Amino acid sequence: MTRIFSGIQPTGHMTLGNYLGAVRRWAQVDQHRGEALFCVVDLHALTVEHDPARLLRLSRQAATLLLAAGLDPAVCTLFVQSHVDEHARLSYVLECTASDGEVRRMIQYKEKSAKAQAAGESVRLSLLTYPVLMAADILVYGADEVPVGDDQTQHVELTRDLAMRFNQRYGHTFVVPRATKPQVAARVMDLQEPASKMGKTSASTGGVVFVLDEPDVVRKKVMRAVTDSGAGVEYDPEGRPGGANLLDVLAACTGGNPEELAGRYESYGALKRDTADAVVEVLRPVRERHAELAADAGYVEGVLRKGAELARAMARPTVDAAYRAIGLLPAG
Ligand code: TYM
Repeated sequence: MTRIFSGIQPTGHMTLGNYLGAVRRWAQVDQHRGEALFCVVDLHALTVEHDPARLLRLSRQAATLLLAAGLDPAVCTLFVQSHVDEHARLSYVLECTASDGEVRRMIQYKEKSAKAQAAGESVRLSLLTYPVLMAADILVYGADEVPVGDDQTQHVELTRDLAMRFNQRYGHTFVVPRATKPQVAARVMDLQEPASKMGKTSASTGGVVFVLDEPDVVRKKVMRAVTDSGAGVEYDPEGRPGGANLLDVLAACTGGNPEELAGRYESYGALKRDTADAVVEVLRPVRERHAELAADAGYVEGVLRKGAELARAMARPTVDAAYRAIGLLPAG
């Protein structure tokens, strides 16, 4: 059976980009396709400046939102990364497999370290080693598929490289995984800066739709989206990225095709109105279910406890095998 693993960082509130690029697909498709594990990857949220109390709130919120989005604990395993020690245990061994040069090449490391330096903050060492921990997240479960948005492709490529290198050096230990991406909305762009990805931690939130935004806030953000001044509407991600982004979002929300949708609009005003309505409708059930689940913290905790138990049982043998293969003396 296909093993599927993916995760989301609780570094900020979940965005429409996270939802359309990853989470919705996990709930609607991936959890039913194989043996699926989904994880709130809280250790990753420690790689940048953080506030402990906020991290705690956001971790709980992320888990609640994943359930609200439709992850079903009877069908998949949902857990929190720091509850399963095996991720960190395997990460060290993979650090001994990766080279300094290959992790320094990661685009997210370059971008985030430049941002931290510009803000006068020091760059945490864990920001550099982060993709290795991500590789451990995936390899520890022997995942075949990793459903992610476009921005994570490079990290999954690194994961593949590390798995193959380890297998070649020390004997077959890891499944070599592959990334899967959605057909549309693999990279939802910031509505105010269509050249940048819509991100949880963007300095300005005017162009970022959060899953828990109230409908009138969603409408305002979409209606104010930056588009180009050219006449008519066409799907041209390179030349007219703002309009193309709206078409992608509308297509992802309504199940249409962005190029075909472009032909139906004369003006951006009408496109924005329909996109705003579509986004509000897609997010409404998630917001409503989140409110119900948030009132039942005991239920969410129970799901996470059970999920961590299942995850530990799956992860342990892989780490033991990797430790043996690399020459560490078994504890007996
Ligand atoms: P994170 O928390 O940034 O994002 C979670 C998922 O959402 C996708 N995504 C987007 N998709 C489309 N458009 C966007 N604007 C957008 N923004 C985010 C991401 O591609 C991702 O699939 N490193 C990962 C978390 C992680 C992980 C893992 C993922 C840690 N270990 C192991 C998979 C497997 C991250 O920062 O995702």
